[in-house]
Amino acid sequence: EKGGHDYFMLKEIEEQPAGVADTLIGHFANGRIVLDEQRLHDQELREVDKVFVVACGSSYHAGLLAKYAIEHWTRLPVEVELASEFRYRDPVLDRSTLVVAISQSGETADTLEAVRHAKEQKARVLAICNTNGAQIPREADAVLYTRTGPEIGVASTKAFLAQITANYLVGLALAQARGVKYPDEVAREFAELESMPKLVAQVLESAERVREIAREFAHVPTVLFLGRHVGYPVALEGALKLKELAYMHAEGFAAGELKHGPIALIEDGLPVFVIMPSPKGRAVLHSKLLSNIREIQARGARTIVIAEEGDDTVRPFADYLIEIPSAPTLYQPLLSTVPLQIFAAEVAQARGYDVDKPRNLAKSVTVE
Ligand code: F6R
Repeated sequence: EKGGHDYFMLKEIEEQPAGVADTLIGHFANGRIVLDEQRLHDQELREVDKVFVVACGSSYHAGLLAKYAIEHWTRLPVEVELASEFRYRDPVLDRSTLVVAISQSGETADTLEAVRHAKEQKARVLAICNTNGAQIPREADAVLYTRTGPEIGVASTKAFLAQITANYLVGLALAQARGVKYPDEVAREFAELESMPKLVAQVLESAERVREIAREFAHVPTVLFLGRHVGYPVALEGALKLKELAYMHAEGFAAGELKHGPIALIEDGLPVFVIMPSPKGRAVLHSKLLSNIREIQARGARTIVIAEEGDDTVRPFADYLIEIPSAPTLYQPLLSTVPLQIFAAEVAQARGYDVDKPRNLAKSVTVE
């Protein structure tokens, strides 16, 4: 049942190409993005003038990525918030607000309460969920299911990649409802998404190299993660995986914040992951990250760089280089997250921990 692995989580990491592919199935027909359950009129989707994304933990990190896609494609303003904070803040909501609630289990109490609060304020709710018939999708006005199958490992892996995929589908659905994207543009983005599973599979082929690196760092006290733009949520997710699985101190930072504080932490031998943007994307993002790596390496950090294959500019600054295939900027997180999951799982195992059942954690958090 664990597919030859010691842990479900390791099997689930390998199931990610299928999880992304399955999440796309049935969500595009006759040239249009299709939701699973839509109890809203198209007109109501068209009238949305603001989007809130609410979620917890890894689902929140996936949600952070929704902002990049939805704002870029639809020009709607998007706010992303931890579900536990959203509700107590008196957010400004009305009937033209769309609240996107992301939850693997569909039972997370904080997210469910955020949904209820949104509905009381007459906002529309769209749920992204991996569990058919769970409470959050039942209370939502529309649902898009991530179809990655049950996730047994407590730490989210395949659900995370499926949630990112689902976010992008929601972004395209909104763009199409608003008429800001031509049908052929939506079709082109969907085709781009369809090409991602095989790239995720390619990343998995370098798993052994990542595990070797992980074993070298298995007993360090702390690891930092730096990313910019869509690499920033990936950095946060990489740090969360390491905390929860390996019980190691880890922090993710927006690379641009380095100079505003975190650079003071850099000392000899400190391992720092850097998620490089694609050199084919915006040149300014890439060059900024390059100078960040240079800065931290000059201060003695051991840099572990995740970069697109063929990006030779990073080589002089990468003590360890993990290459991923080239992908459009928005989709890169589907690739760059995977080595970080493998790294955390391997460090945890090297330390003798059960990666399926990290201490103190539950798969579904049904109390606030
Ligand atoms: C981290 C993890 C948790 C969940 C969070 C939300 O690996 O699994 O942070 O992402 O508890 O759970 P769902 O998505 O079920 O609402």
